[in-house]
Amino acid sequence: MPKNVTAKEGEKSQKSDGKKDLHLQLFSLHGLIRGQNLELGRDADTGGQTKYVVELAKALGEHPRVKQVDLFTRLIDDKRVSSDYKQPIEPLGENSRIVRIRCGGKRYMRKELLWPSLSEFVDNVIRFNKKEKITPDLLHGHYADAGYVARQVSKLMGIPYVFTGHSLGQSKKNSLSNKGLTLKQMKEKFNIEERIIAEEDVLRTAAHVVVSTNHEIDKQYSLYKNFDKASYTVIPPGIDVDTFYPYYYDHDENWHKPEPFIQAREKMDRELARFFYNKDKPLILTICRPDSRKNIQGLITAFGENKELQAIANLAVFAGIRKEIDQLDDNEKEVLTEMLLLMDKYDLYGKFALPKKHDPTTEVPELFRMAADRQGVFVNSAFSEPFGITLIEAASTGVPIVGPDDGGPQDIVKNCQNGQLVDTSDAKALGETIKSILIDQETWREYSNNGVNGVRKHYSWEAHAHSFLESVDDVIGDYTKSTKKHGVSQAPGWRFAGLDKMLITDIDDTLVGDDEALEQFITIMEKNRKEVGFGVATGRSLELVEEILAEKNIPVPDVIISSVGTEIYYGPDLKNLSHDSGWRSHISYQWKPSKIKEVLKDFDFLVLQDRDGERDFKISYNMDPNEDHIAMIHQRLSDYNLRYQLIYSHGAYLDIVPSRASKGKAIQYLGKKWDIAPHNTLVSGDSGNDYEMLYGQRLAVVVGNHAPEIEKLRGNRRVYFADSNYAAGIIEGIQHYKFMDTQSE
Ligand code: GLC
Ligand code: MG
Repeated sequence: MPKNVTAKEGEKSQKSDGKKDLHLQLFSLHGLIRGQNLELGRDADTGGQTKYVVELAKALGEHPRVKQVDLFTRLIDDKRVSSDYKQPIEPLGENSRIVRIRCGGKRYMRKELLWPSLSEFVDNVIRFNKKEKITPDLLHGHYADAGYVARQVSKLMGIPYVFTGHSLGQSKKNSLSNKGLTLKQMKEKFNIEERIIAEEDVLRTAAHVVVSTNHEIDKQYSLYKNFDKASYTVIPPGIDVDTFYPYYYDHDENWHKPEPFIQAREKMDRELARFFYNKDKPLILTICRPDSRKNIQGLITAFGENKELQAIANLAVFAGIRKEIDQLDDNEKEVLTEMLLLMDKYDLYGKFALPKKHDPTTEVPELFRMAADRQGVFVNSAFSEPFGITLIEAASTGVPIVGPDDGGPQDIVKNCQNGQLVDTSDAKALGETIKSILIDQETWREYSNNGVNGVRKHYSWEAHAHSFLESVDDVIGDYTKSTKKHGVSQAPGWRFAGLDKMLITDIDDTLVGDDEALEQFITIMEKNRKEVGFGVATGRSLELVEEILAEKNIPVPDVIISSVGTEIYYGPDLKNLSHDSGWRSHISYQWKPSKIKEVLKDFDFLVLQDRDGERDFKISYNMDPNEDHIAMIHQRLSDYNLRYQLIYSHGAYLDIVPSRASKGKAIQYLGKKWDIAPHNTLVSGDSGNDYEMLYGQRLAVVVGNHAPEIEKLRGNRRVYFADSNYAAGIIEGIQHYKFMDTQSE
């Protein structure tokens, strides 16, 4: 039920021209996300992406076209982390907020463990939106897990979605296999296969893929089979220009420098003074992780080999945070050891600083400003850099940059003209390039100013939000195209988001059996169809449902619950039904069909049905009534610790389904997902496989011609036993509950 889609569903809605009416929903599931004091670096899942999504949400919220931004993340209620993460709603700005959704329990978990619970997240988002009466205009998933979620919500609600990977499974797989991990290890530790499958699926169905650099498209997305199916838009992330304000603000006496920065400056000044003979010389600064690919050794060599450079400048290397080099992992240990050896080799004492720690939020911006104040440069000496966020942050404060002539830095220098690129593997060239900037006042000033201005033009979140909305403008409101991408002609959400009543009936011997009554029922149902959803819940497989619908001229239901509640499909287009994959993944829990068949093999009183014996989540036998036999089956299955549910009906059919499945549970799931209350749900049936759906909070109707096994429901307050048979019994029940108008004019 997307906005503006009423008369002709699916037609492109009117574009909002200058109106503040867009509702955007962002998804970023893992890690610890909050509006203030992000715990960046606390663990592998709480890093750049969490900062990116919070800042993006805030910036989009401030865009003149945007009415509301919701950033969905996981609700974590766990003593080991701050109670901030268990607040369901946290405002970010006037028009933006974090919405925390439950999935996979309360505990904080690493991202690889969230996969089995993603469908739960999807369902809770659907429910949240329906409760709050929200119809978002665009969804945006971040990273594979939230990409999956956005994809499913998009499919269910018929709203286009875009995707940002941040990093990709395929690249990770390659680098892990270079490190010698086997596929089995990668699956176990990183759930790598499932991630890549989800990413392939997203590339096929997302309206746009938003990336930070061209490099990402060429080197990472290109590794995917569906690479060509996606449309890519490069929009660099913004940086927080208030934190990375220009160094010369500090020279203005009217500027009130924030206290944390004053303290950080104090501390860093003192820290560097411990290392340098002359702390006022121009500063060559680098800040990066101690990773061999960052080529810090190259920078130290460049400095060490260049006596002139040593004479005019100091070098400071901030390489991560450490207590003891001994306790670092091998790669880091190696890098740091090599740095110390190089310092000794070139005798850089007094000119070279290698501090042990720094704080990223206040000290890093101050370090950049210190380098700028001392007319220094910021160097990223990595061999290649996919993006180079530190170069942009440095530029923002007014320090000129030197970076690798490969990857993201190329975009940065092209946009800002604020420094020079060099083949960083060539230590001599690197040294000369740095020197050339340090000795030329005029160039230095030009680069410095260009950096400050260029970042505000190209790399602020405000600029990002503008480019973002411009580039997704073609898909906003284009519901049909998005639905087609998912292979359905209409998203169930278009129907269900507006419904608050549902009638769900069994087919055989309930809906069908008396053609005349059926015709009457259909007339009544269709008359009320606008307000009341129509569903069937049956033992039949989907194919057999289709058969009977055609044979009896029954209108296509809004929802088909088939194979004894193990499959859920949404209408109304029989040729393009959309399968509820959330239900599928929910019931697949501990379902071992081959094992079940195997252990029951020697019971010759069980005969596998030939017409409809096996579905993904249902095994059906023919069996004559016999209490002892049923007991034997239970005994056998529990001997093997198998999880299952056994349903016997009509004194003839024995269905074995997953423990989480049944017609009743499927209806309960639907009600929860689409927020339709049990007391607004009427169900009707006649036999054993209806028992569970008739028992409970819903308005139940048992038709007159019911099977004996259902007698035990009699006397139950919420179960109405009709006198009439088949569809006439349903009509009688509708009247009994005054569920809808049965008058046919
Ligand atoms: C339908 C199905 C069959 C099942 C029976 C009872 O007839 O085709 O497989 O056993 O319903 O649920
Ligand atoms: Mg029946």
